Amino acid sequence: MSGQLKSELAAGQRPPLLQNHNLALLFEKPSMRTRVSFESGISQLGGHALYLGQDVGWGKRESIKDFSEVLSEYVDVIACRSYKHETVEQLARFSSVPVINALTDYSHPCQALADVLTIQEEFGRLEGRHVIFVGDANNVSRSLAIACGKLGVRFTLACPDGYRFSDAEKLEIEAGCGTFQFTQTNDALSAVADADAIYTDVWASMGQEKEQKQREQDFADFQVNQALMEAAPEHAIFLHCLPAKRGQEVTDEVIDGTQSRVVRQAGNRMHAQKALLVWLIGGQN
Ligand code: CP
Ligand code: NVA
Repeated sequence: MSGQLKSELAAGQRPPLLQNHNLALLFEKPSMRTRVSFESGISQLGGHALYLGQDVGWGKRESIKDFSEVLSEYVDVIACRSYKHETVEQLARFSSVPVINALTDYSHPCQALADVLTIQEEFGRLEGRHVIFVGDANNVSRSLAIACGKLGVRFTLACPDGYRFSDAEKLEIEAGCGTFQFTQTNDALSAVADADAIYTDVWASMGQEKEQKQREQDFADFQVNQALMEAAPEHAIFLHCLPAKRGQEVTDEVIDGTQSRVVRQAGNRMHAQKALLVWLIGGQN
C-alpha cells in the first residue's frame, strides 16, 4: 500500500482515507523526519496531527495510565518517541487506541518500514538481498534486522567487538524470522563484498551523548567511505536513517554520491507511515 499511496501522491491524488481522524504525536526526544512525515502524511489522508511536547506532562503531571486512558478518548492513534522503550509499552498497555513506536532506545520500526520500501524500489524482489549495517547494535539496526529477517533478506552487522547484539538479543531478533542469515563481524571490508545495501547510523544515539568521544575512537575504522563502497559491488546502494554526522560514520563523498539513496529513503518514511496509519485505523489494508 505504501507504493500505491506514493504513486497516487505523485499523480496529484490524495485519497481522504483518514478524514477527520486525529493522530497524537508524543515526543520526548527531538525529531525532524518522524514528526514531519507523520504530520504531513496524516494531513494528506484528510486527518490531523497534534504535536504534544513535554508541557502536556505525561509521566510527570499524572501517571502514564491516567494520561494514556484519557488521551485515547480524544484521538484515533498515538505515535510516541521516548527514551525508554518501556514508556511506549506502558502507553500502549493503557491506551484504547493503537500506539505506534516512533523510536525508543530499543527500536525504530517506522524507520525499518521505509528502509525495506527503499530497497524494494531499488531491486524489486527483496528475498535473497544482503544488507550490511556498519554501526552498533542499536535501535535502528535492531528494527532493520527484524524487518530483513521477516522478508528473507540477509543481514550483517559490522562493528567493533563489544558493540554487537548479545547472543540473547540475537536470538530475540531471529525469533519468528524462519531461516534468517544474520551474521555479526568486525570485518566490514569483507562483509560488503556481496552487499546490495550498505547502511550506517550515528555512532552515539540520542541519550548516549556521554559516550560520544569513546565511540568516536572505537568506531574510527568503521566509517562508510569511498574505499568501503569500492569494496562492494557497483550496484550496492548507500542508506542512512539520518540525521548523519558527516565526516564521522559517513563521508560527504558517499552520502552525496551516486550510490546514495538517503533522500529517497527519508521521503519513504512518509509513504510507509501513511500505509501504516491506514492499516491501523482506516479499516482496510
Ligand atoms: N530517522 C529519523 O527518525 O529522523 P528524526 O530523528 O529526524 O525523526
Ligand atoms: N540511532 C539514532 C537514530 C536517530 C533517528 C538515535 O537513536 O539517535
